[in-house]
Amino acid sequence: MDSRESTILIHCIENLSQHDSFLSMGKYIQHGHTDCLLHSIAVAYYSYAAAKRLHLNLNEKSLVTGALLHDYFLYDWHEPDTSHRFHGFTHPKTALENARQNWNLNKIEIDIITKHMFPLILALPHCKESILVCIIDKVCSISEILFLPTCKEVRCLYDCAINCKK
Ligand SMILES: [Fe+2]
Ligand SMILES: [Fe+2]
Repeated sequence: MDSRESTILIHCIENLSQHDSFLSMGKYIQHGHTDCLLHSIAVAYYSYAAAKRLHLNLNEKSLVTGALLHDYFLYDWHEPDTSHRFHGFTHPKTALENARQNWNLNKIEIDIITKHMFPLILALPHCKESILVCIIDKVCSISEILFLPTCKEVRCLYDCAINCKK
């Protein structure tokens, strides 16, 4: 991906990172050693890269925004707590409720967040953007569970998120 193509990724990350709560995802482990912020940025990066590589005609801003917020549930799901006992089933709705407190989301972004756990949650993704994020999320999750290394582009975007607050 060249720098021109990654502009939309950087723009969306910088925009969301103005909220401390978005950066607070870095406090919570998602899989393996990967925190929720790094996981979300990886899902956004690979979803966007796949859309470009496959010449998919998608709404790129919504694809990236939805991917960045798909796991915006803001707690450590590894800690035993009755409030998130059914985390796998409930966290998309929690992520959407949290995201809506800070941003106005369009239909595509809402579909990405609420449907990304298909088929665990039997809610079919309606948009092409949601189908792509649903697939990439699983690929990234397996990679993180296997402790595979994070690519340098995703690391750079993570550093960008942490350092861009104005
Ligand atoms: Fe998730
Ligand atoms: Fe995820």
